[in-house]
Amino acid sequence: MKLSKRIDTVIESQTLAMTKLARTLKEKGKDIISLSIGEPDFDTPENICHSATQAMKRGETHYTPVLGTLNFRKAIQQKLLNDNNISYTTDEIIVSNGAKQSIFNAVMALVDPGDEVLLPAPFWVSYPSMVNYAGGVCVEIPTTIESNYKVSAEILESYITPKTKLIIYSSPCNPSGSVMSESEIRAWAEVLERHPHVFVISDEIYEKIVYNTKPFSIASIPSMKDRVATVNGLAKGYAMTGWRIGYMAGPEKLIKACEKFQGLISSGANSIAQAAGIEALIGDQSAVENMRKQFESRKNLMAEKLTQIPGLKVNNPDGAFYHFPDVSAFIGKRHSNSVINNADELCMYLLENAWVALVSGDAFGAKNCIRLSYATSEQQIEEAVSRIHKALLQLN
Ligand SMILES: Cc1ncc(COP(=O)(O)O)c(C=O)c1O
Repeated sequence: MKLSKRIDTVIESQTLAMTKLARTLKEKGKDIISLSIGEPDFDTPENICHSATQAMKRGETHYTPVLGTLNFRKAIQQKLLNDNNISYTTDEIIVSNGAKQSIFNAVMALVDPGDEVLLPAPFWVSYPSMVNYAGGVCVEIPTTIESNYKVSAEILESYITPKTKLIIYSSPCNPSGSVMSESEIRAWAEVLERHPHVFVISDEIYEKIVYNTKPFSIASIPSMKDRVATVNGLAKGYAMTGWRIGYMAGPEKLIKACEKFQGLISSGANSIAQAAGIEALIGDQSAVENMRKQFESRKNLMAEKLTQIPGLKVNNPDGAFYHFPDVSAFIGKRHSNSVINNADELCMYLLENAWVALVSGDAFGAKNCIRLSYATSEQQIEEAVSRIHKALLQLN
């Protein structure tokens, strides 16, 4: 059998690869602590589960429209108005099998071969693969920990060419945890106003997990609204990764194109999960705040432990559930007879010597960094970072 050339362009996500390897070692009896996890360790709040049961009992078990049920889209509409100050009609909203599908829909609907797509780095691993799949050209905009991994308006403008079609970014950011402030986004918008051919995908899936800051949606700026796809979902903030519900709001022309594309591959999202999504978005939010607070104390604990490691550069992320330290001080160091040449090799060294699974920043376009997820218990965080500390001290 000969597979298509197209499928060869798809590279397995390194985060999934690391999770898989850690699982295999665990199955072999190794005491692995995984900090490579990209999902909340909490179960879905009870009120949301209950609304799913009720929906099944009411017989909401049939196909739904490709765009999503009207009631769920109305809940999304209300959420976007209340939380993000953006007013969309229900025809400007599409529900998908996770935010991942929403982004893929949009990339497939917007990007032609040769189009340039700006990706402030570090970026979520799936963006470049999606852009490559569409034939687009990824243009990475590098950043450093010193600027909290943020791209200034000036730098953004220097990367825009007549071929730039799109910019895709997440704020709060996976992997860096950085959150763009209102003034930073307004400065970007001023630049983008001068370049009306550039469209924006704003991935806001970590919006509910922020610390002492308020996320700001670029589509809430009136001059930008027609040029932005606002993507969000239930996975992270509501601990609903397995329910597979994401959504996108944007200009009706784009939503119609996404409807066509999604209609081809998967149709409407799960009916029960959409019913539960209504409760998630407009029901009691106390569980969300509870989880957020726990993430915050874990973030602080991990920061305290990481800053004790000599050579590691650590910042103070404002959102998501990741620390993203710079490990350049360890590149070139030796253990036994081998040299650590890059962050990938450092992660492998830490997996084999500290029994801690992490993800190399290389997967996210930041080759001198590593990602540590704190979506796990405080006890595991303490133990994992102590092991990392010890293993790093052994390098010379
Ligand atoms: C930045 C970012 N966007 C989108 C997604 C996809 O979310 P979903 O599970 O809703 O497909 C993820 C999941 O890891 C993510 O980190």
